[in-house]
Amino acid sequence: MKKTIVMTAMIVAMAMMPANTWSRDRGVKDELTKTECGACHMVFQPRFLPAVSWTNIMSDLGNHFGEDASLDEESRTKIEAYLVKNARKKEFKYIGNGTQPIRITEIRWFKREHRNEVSKRAMKRAGTMANCVACHKGAEKGQYDDD
Ligand code: HEC
Ligand code: HEC
Repeated sequence: MKKTIVMTAMIVAMAMMPANTWSRDRGVKDELTKTECGACHMVFQPRFLPAVSWTNIMSDLGNHFGEDASLDEESRTKIEAYLVKNARKKEFKYIGNGTQPIRITEIRWFKREHRNEVSKRAMKRAGTMANCVACHKGAEKGQYDDD
């Protein structure tokens, strides 16, 4: 009996805890973007790249990292608007010629964060550094500090 009361109290307390203290979902919320940009790889969070990077990616979908990721114009425009709206606010300063990266995996902080951190085994399993979910279980929810 006592046990049940304690358990119930714990469950109530947990339910009342704000979700963002430990599991805030910072993943992509837009359904169209999730479907179309999550078809071949994890849907990347727009906050990793500045607006111009997303515009560049979205204007060359026919030649997308060696694949054809073309969309009808309506979907393309909608997705681009979502990505641009939620993009990283600041452009990267250290990249010359006004060129911003179109790969997250080529950003300096990304390389620094992963240098000497990734075992050969983990790399083999992931196949490519763009395969975030292989190493970060919470990647689709925007959680990367879990391991
Ligand atoms: C037909 C398959 C396909 C679709 C659909 C697709 N992609 Fe990709 N994408 C790829 C491939 C292949 C790569 C290269 C992966 C690698 O290098 O390991 C890639 C890489 C990327 C990268 C760079 C990842 C890195 O290295 O940091 C971004 C950003 C990206 N895609 C965004 C998008 C967006 C936005 C959409 C939706 C409009 C999309 N992709 C839809 C196949 C696809
Ligand atoms: C082969 C495994 C692997 C892949 C693939 C990988 N990561 Fe990581 N990542 C790690 C390891 C290991 C660390 C360092 C330990 C840690 O802080 O979690 C790390 C650290 C990070 C951090 C810093 C976390 C923090 O709070 O310190 C971020 C952000 C991150 N990765 C994002 C990404 C994104 C985005 C992708 C995909 C584009 C990706 N990672 C792909 C293994 C990987």
